[in-house]
Amino acid sequence: MSSSNPADLHTDPSLFPGVDVYAVAGNPISHTKSPDIHQRFAEQAKQKMHYGRLQPEINSFAAMATSFFAAGGKGMNITVPFKLDAQIFADVLTARAQRAGAVNTLWIKDGKIYGDNTDGTGLVRDLLAQGIAIHQSRILLLGAGGAARGVIGPLLEQSPKSLVIANRSNAKADELVKLFADLATKREVALESRTLAELEDFKKTPYPFDLIINATAAGLSDESPLSKQAVTNIFVPSSFAYDMVYGKSTAFMQQALKKGARVSDGLGMLVEQAADAFLLWRGEQLATIIDPRAVLAKLRS
Ligand code: ATR
Repeated sequence: MSSSNPADLHTDPSLFPGVDVYAVAGNPISHTKSPDIHQRFAEQAKQKMHYGRLQPEINSFAAMATSFFAAGGKGMNITVPFKLDAQIFADVLTARAQRAGAVNTLWIKDGKIYGDNTDGTGLVRDLLAQGIAIHQSRILLLGAGGAARGVIGPLLEQSPKSLVIANRSNAKADELVKLFADLATKREVALESRTLAELEDFKKTPYPFDLIINATAAGLSDESPLSKQAVTNIFVPSSFAYDMVYGKSTAFMQQALKKGARVSDGLGMLVEQAADAFLLWRGEQLATIIDPRAVLAKLRS
C-alpha cells in the first residue's frame, strides 16, 4: 500500500500473513481508541486478528479503501470525515446505513463490500446500560449533521414519547424530520424540529427534557450549542445529558451539571458501536462472550 503517513505503516494486510486484518480510517486518526478496544474484544473472544489505523488524505478515502481490501483487509471502521465516502464506497448497504446516510463499518464478503452503521445502536445500548429509559421519554437531540442523523433511527425504534431535533439552522433539522416521519409515525413518536434559538423561547419549548443528546460539533471547540436561557428551559435535575464527544467534560456537560442533571460523555457509545462492528465481522455468536462494559471500565480506569 502506498503511503507516506507513519500512522498507516502497521496496517498493510500483506504484512500479516495468516492473520485477519482490520483498521479504522479517519483524518486525523492518531488519537483513536478503536485499536485498543478491538484488541480487548479479540482477547476476550480468543480471535486472531490485527487492528490498525489508516489516515487517508481528505480526498483519497476510496483509493485507500480499495488498496486495503485488495491487499487482503477484512473490515474497516470509519470515522470523521469519511462516513459519507464509506457509504458511497460500499456495494451493499444495510437498511439502517442507508437511512443514516453514513457508514461506520465496512467488510468484504464474496468479493463485495458491505456497509453498515452501528453508531445508533451503540448509543442506545450505552444509554440502556447506564439505566436511562428511552421508551416514553422526551428526547432533545442537538445537531442535524452526520452524527445526529446516524442515531435518529435507533432512537425512534425505542418508541420515546417525543423527539425534538434542534439545530442552529432550520433547514437541516426540518429535512431530518421529513426523512424520519414515517418511522416516527410507526413508532408513535412526536417528531419535531426547532432552531437552537427557539429553545430559548418558553412558548416554543414549554417543557424540560428527560434526555438531551449533544450531537453537534460544538464540543470539539469547547463551546456549548445551548445559551443560558435555553439551559434554563431544558434541564431539570431528573434530566440526563449525553455528549457524543468523549475524553473530556464539555461545556454542554458543565451546563447540565450546574442544573443538577446527570451527565455522560460518549465513550460508552464508542465502545458499544465497536462491539457491534466486531460481531458483524467475527460472528454474532460471540455476543455472549465479549464484554463491552468491562472494556469500557478498563478504558476509564
Ligand atoms: P458531524 O458528522 O460530526 O455531525 P457535521 O455534519 O459537519 O458533522 O455537522 C455538525 C453539526 O454541529 C451541525 O448540526 C452544526 O450545525 P449547523 O448545521 O447549523 O452548521 C453543528 N454545530 C457545529 N458547531 C456548532 C456550534 N458552535 N454551535 C452549535 N452547533 C454547532
